[in-house]
Amino acid sequence: MHSSLVIVVCLAVLQAAVAKDLRNAAEPKIPAACTSLSGTGKEETEVIQKALTGCAKGKAVHLSSGTFISGPLTIPTGVGLWVDSAATLKASTNPKDFDQGKNTCGTLDGSGSGCKPFITIKGAKGSGIYGKGTIDGQGGQTIQGKGVSWWELARDAQTKNKKQNCPRLIQIENSQDITLYQITMKNSPNFHVSSKNTNGFTAWGVTINTPGTARNTDGIDPASSQNVTIAHCSIATGDDNVAIKAGDGPTRHVSILNNKFGVGHGMSIGSEVNGGVSDVTVTTLTLDGTTNGLRIKSDKSRGGLVTGVTYTDVCIHNVKNPIVLDTQYSSSGGSKIPTFKGITFNNVKVLTAGTFTFDGISDSNPVEATLNNVHIKSGSKWVATHAKITGKYAEDASGSSC
Ligand SMILES: *[C@@H]1O[C@H](CO)[C@@H](O)[C@H](O)[C@H]1NC(C)=O
Repeated sequence: MHSSLVIVVCLAVLQAAVAKDLRNAAEPKIPAACTSLSGTGKEETEVIQKALTGCAKGKAVHLSSGTFISGPLTIPTGVGLWVDSAATLKASTNPKDFDQGKNTCGTLDGSGSGCKPFITIKGAKGSGIYGKGTIDGQGGQTIQGKGVSWWELARDAQTKNKKQNCPRLIQIENSQDITLYQITMKNSPNFHVSSKNTNGFTAWGVTINTPGTARNTDGIDPASSQNVTIAHCSIATGDDNVAIKAGDGPTRHVSILNNKFGVGHGMSIGSEVNGGVSDVTVTTLTLDGTTNGLRIKSDKSRGGLVTGVTYTDVCIHNVKNPIVLDTQYSSSGGSKIPTFKGITFNNVKVLTAGTFTFDGISDSNPVEATLNNVHIKSGSKWVATHAKITGKYAEDASGSSC
């Protein structure tokens, strides 16, 4: 009797110990400047890129003050871009500056891959973006020669069932130990931050502030990446505030700590999870005014195993769908079957009534979730289909703000 209890406790501790970024990322530091620049308010792509290319590893190009307008920039391995509090780095509104070579950036087509990102970090180690200044993607501004903004183009794509070619703000790929620290990002034409196939990625003290109506403007999307920390960030935007994806390999060991989400589609995992998502901890999160709260979404065309996900100390207010575990979020068919199990909710408080959804594929492949100390508002709707739920919720949440 006693020994089996000990085993159970050890397993629980072991699981808690691995469900996170294994690096235990600490607060980053801004590197010393290799050079300092002041913005003239004019287009300065070449000036900034030359400074980045010439910067010594371990140092950062310091944008000290003023407004810089730029086309695509690449941050080399080991180099930082430091946008200081008095400086703003704005993306050019000329689609030609971002074109991938097919003259499709700023148009609609079937692929949506016609634009380069504003800032690219690729095949790099130890690079980062730092400082209390602002990176503005100018998504709401009219783009040159097109008569619409990037966001209007994205809306247009939706009604015409096509894809918009709009630049992402920051694209990180095949890299190691990449840092975003303190920076404010706003008005991205498309996703704000995507980190793909990257091991070691920290976003710390970052602010994203973009209107809720700006389509496909995800906040931070770690994809097929390992050892990820997103901490002390404030994210409001027009799509997923954070979306953990795994379309191209597994995503594991993710810590989402002490964050605040405003408008957006919520704290998401999916929809691409065919590479597997595991060992994720979301601890101390406030969601206020998002459409979804804690959400795992996939379908049969991009499903996989999502397991070892723990949400702890979460407060949800003014959210239509506070918890959604949905294996059939679209009707797409295929053989990539979603399995969500080992999903744990600890100390979750939902202050406004909403719809809770637990929707597994079948009774033989149900979503498996555990509830500990979950308090929801009376009048909520609880829908569980093909679901194995351990623990209970209480309809006794009170209070008017998180
Ligand atoms: C994650 O971090 C741990 C601890 O630093 C390290 O041992 C491991 O190799 C890292 N994983 C990857 C895939 O880089």
